[in-house]
Amino acid sequence: MTAGTTIRHPGPVALVTGATSGIGREGALWLAREGFHVLAAGRHAARGAEVVEAISAEGGTSEFVAFDVTAEAEWARVMADVASRFARLDALVNSAGIFLARPLSETSLADFRRLWETDVESVFLGTKWGLRTMRETGSSGSIVNLSSLAGLIGLEDCAAYCAAKAAVTHLSKVAAIEGAAFDPPVRVNSLNPGVILTEMITGAYGAGPEVEAFVKAGNALDMVGEARHVAAAIVFLATPRSRMVTGTVHVVDGGRGVD
Ligand SMILES: NC(=O)c1ccc[n+]([C@@H]2O[C@H](COP(=O)([O-])OP(=O)(O)OC[C@H]3O[C@@H](n4cnc5c(N)ncnc54)[C@H](O)[C@@H]3O)[C@@H](O)[C@H]2O)c1
Repeated sequence: MTAGTTIRHPGPVALVTGATSGIGREGALWLAREGFHVLAAGRHAARGAEVVEAISAEGGTSEFVAFDVTAEAEWARVMADVASRFARLDALVNSAGIFLARPLSETSLADFRRLWETDVESVFLGTKWGLRTMRETGSSGSIVNLSSLAGLIGLEDCAAYCAAKAAVTHLSKVAAIEGAAFDPPVRVNSLNPGVILTEMITGAYGAGPEVEAFVKAGNALDMVGEARHVAAAIVFLATPRSRMVTGTVHVVDGGRGVD
């Protein structure tokens, strides 16, 4: 993104973090299909270029925005740029995150803090700067925070991750109250997928039939959760289709969390 260059995009504008892989990448593609100009945020320029190319190949518009979501100065810089170039921010999808599968008794404080910084502090910062930017630009925006089923139920050996995702879900509810009072209102929802076959899962558990079986295990629909299943919910929550929906916990888990 080049500071100071005003872009006149006829449609809405979305910023998606974690957009170079998995759920964020798929969400970026789906939002572009909906007519959003997508700011695809990530840390890897080559992967960002691939996402921009994939969106362009489908006739959409996007650009890669390089930043680390844990740094507040970078949120401030990116949002100032969004406000000056587009004068609107219609959707913010906070999808960047990391996972840790480790027994609590074996989790170091450094591991816990690293997870908290990436999964909670980044969503706090994104929601804060998203609310401010949407209010200041008069945007009737929507913020979608990627939490997890792990933020609602305890998953074995995932205490740090579960705690972080519970914080994201709860922070989103309180942010929804704040955003509802804006004129125009800004909506904030928590999106809580079950197990979705992305690099987050293959990085932790490997790939292959056993991992696919793990992804389906306990899933009432007996489906392998894929990023596109979550992207459909991102589109719903990010667009005015859900204009009556805020402060909710939107679960996409194939029924895994149903007891
Ligand atoms: N895959 C699942 O089973 C699952 C289930 C529930 C919730 N989620 C959540 O969905 C979100 C997306 O996960 P995914 O499955 O697409 O995983 P993924 O690993 O494919 O994507 C996560 C992205 O976040 C980026 N990222 C990590 N730290 C960052 C930082 N400091 N700054 C900028 N970018 C950073 C990574 O580079 C990566 O592109 C995460 O918040 C995750 O916790 C995933």
